[in-house]
Amino acid sequence: MPPRQFAAPTTVMVRPLLLKPQWMNGLSERLLVSHYENNYGGAVRRLNFIRARLAALDWERTPVFEVNGLKREELIAAGSVILHEIYFDSLGGHGDDPPTGLAEPPDGIAHAFERDFGSVMTWRAEFTAMAKALAGGSGWAILAWSERLGRLVNQWAADHAHGLAGAIPIVALDMYEHSYHLDFGAKAAVYVDQVMANLNWERIDARYRMAIGEEVGNDKLFLPFGAPAQQEARISAEELKTALENGDDRRPVLLDLCLPKDLPRRTDMLPGASMHAPAALPRWVEELSRDRPIVVYCICGFQVSGTAVTELRHRGYDARALVGGITAWHAIGGATVPLDTSTYEDG
Ligand SMILES: [Fe+2]
Repeated sequence: MPPRQFAAPTTVMVRPLLLKPQWMNGLSERLLVSHYENNYGGAVRRLNFIRARLAALDWERTPVFEVNGLKREELIAAGSVILHEIYFDSLGGHGDDPPTGLAEPPDGIAHAFERDFGSVMTWRAEFTAMAKALAGGSGWAILAWSERLGRLVNQWAADHAHGLAGAIPIVALDMYEHSYHLDFGAKAAVYVDQVMANLNWERIDARYRMAIGEEVGNDKLFLPFGAPAQQEARISAEELKTALENGDDRRPVLLDLCLPKDLPRRTDMLPGASMHAPAALPRWVEELSRDRPIVVYCICGFQVSGTAVTELRHRGYDARALVGGITAWHAIGGATVPLDTSTYEDG
């Protein structure tokens, strides 16, 4: 289930990508990663900055225009964060399989579409028409569950702060130009059809069932595929940033793991990290310190870091996988340096 954030109320933590950006169906990695790191990540950073400002505000003495401005920006940034998370979570294949473009809604939500729209096809026609009608402007096409209306609704939203009162978004389709321009230019309608071909119905159905108060048994559904299952084997980008700021001897050792075929996708790395080939683990593992924690990261935090962390923990190392990989690190505005492959093993 989507992790609910109870701890650290002053910091809104970035959520990892669940989709595999390198093999989506007709949506490029460049587009998806730029959207995630810059627009979604930007909203998370803006929201945290605004919240820090608000926390320090003298409510009695602050001029009303400043209170208005900050509270308006807070609402817009928070809406952007939440809707972008629903957007990215709604996309992707199953496990390690790319989206086929042929997936159909499972029974639970399919029956709800039949009940509330007549058929899945009628829902889809209304939803995509609503999204396409936002072309050339900006906003969101949202499928939401309304308790009061007792049904699923297709809701038009002019901006990040526009929602049907009390409704719970199930699918959010980003119609801001930044979500399609790199791949589709001004052809927003083609983008809408492509998003529909990439929907992950398993997660959408889970969101619907949670909205109507049903239990969702599969807690791996909202965890990056291949990430370690145990909480203690993972570290968030925010936790890593804090750990690296402590210059003491418990500062984690950083390992950048990358498959040879993925090297062309890389341009930068975390400062102080050393880069290795996952297959050469038996060669580089002996050089690792057993006195310091180890943080392993890969591009998005799927199997590459997950498998290595499981192996390292098996060998007794205090190793954790960076949730969301270097992509999440970029999204929180973490510092990087140009890629250094001098420690990378050949063959
Ligand atoms: Fe966006």
